[in-house]
Amino acid sequence: MTQTEQLQHVNLKGRDLLELDDYSTEEIQYLLDLAIELKRKQKNGEVYQPLKGKTIGLIFEKSSTRTRVSFEVGAFQLGAHALFLSKNDIQLGRGEIISDTAQVLSRYLDGIMIRTFGHNNVVDLAKYATVPVINGLSDLAHPCQVLADYQTILEHKGKLKGLKLAYIGDGNNMAHSLMIGGAKLGVHVSVASPEGYEPDAEVVKASREIAKETGAQIVVTRSPQEAVKDADVIYTDVWASMGFEEEQKIREAAFKDYQVDEELAKGAKSDYLFMHCLPAHRGEEVSEGVIDGKNSVIFDQAENRLHAQKALMAALMG
Ligand code: CP
Ligand code: NVA
Repeated sequence: MTQTEQLQHVNLKGRDLLELDDYSTEEIQYLLDLAIELKRKQKNGEVYQPLKGKTIGLIFEKSSTRTRVSFEVGAFQLGAHALFLSKNDIQLGRGEIISDTAQVLSRYLDGIMIRTFGHNNVVDLAKYATVPVINGLSDLAHPCQVLADYQTILEHKGKLKGLKLAYIGDGNNMAHSLMIGGAKLGVHVSVASPEGYEPDAEVVKASREIAKETGAQIVVTRSPQEAVKDADVIYTDVWASMGFEEEQKIREAAFKDYQVDEELAKGAKSDYLFMHCLPAHRGEEVSEGVIDGKNSVIFDQAENRLHAQKALMAALMG
């Protein structure tokens, strides 16, 4: 059986996406293939509207450019309608409880995406909602971004298994989802973070457990040089994520040796990809030369948010 035939029986209808560990390797591969197929259709001008007449609510407790626009545009292209629900403009911001919000919204909507601080909010929403719930970023995880990221790597490198991804910087939501996704897909992930900013120990343990199945190696180190050695991909993210802005100064000091610059990148393979989920701070976590250089694929990643989020909505809500 070819991989495409194997993936044909995958059915994700009605499922939530809280983090990629909810999904099997095969299910993630299915979503990546579907994203690539939907991208092809879009580029060819083919109209594909499996979600005609459906609605998705997008709850935002934090700012967003890519996530909001990719879900809104993606829903429109699939024939669905998206509602932007800023937390402060709905009763959730005035103390209406998550379980009531989830049950009420489920009576109107066919899917809910939520961007929030505490991951427990996503879990609670999913527990009480009767429609699929998608994590559009929590303090713990950012699976939507990572689907687009592995799609981007697959498109540029033609494969995923056996590649090495080096993540330099804060052991945050991005680091976590890249590790879980890498472990599922057989991508070796090396994370280099300063003391006190390592990825969550539970996530590292879970990733290593998953990696046993695929042969991926999950490494956590202090040394950016060790992490980038022979890497196919160098990935970084801001030093102060949303909600941590007041720690900016302390973090600038803690992360000063963790900038991805031309010197550090020399340790990677010459055809390495530079990746960043964006928004970026040039001159902090990455030098201008690297982020705007020839190895950078940041705008392919940003574009793929659209295709990956369409695949997710089509698969879960279709
Ligand atoms: N990468 C990402 O999620 O971007 P936004 O915060 O703009 O949605
Ligand atoms: N780690 C960043 C990602 C932004 C897309 C944050 O949580 O702010």
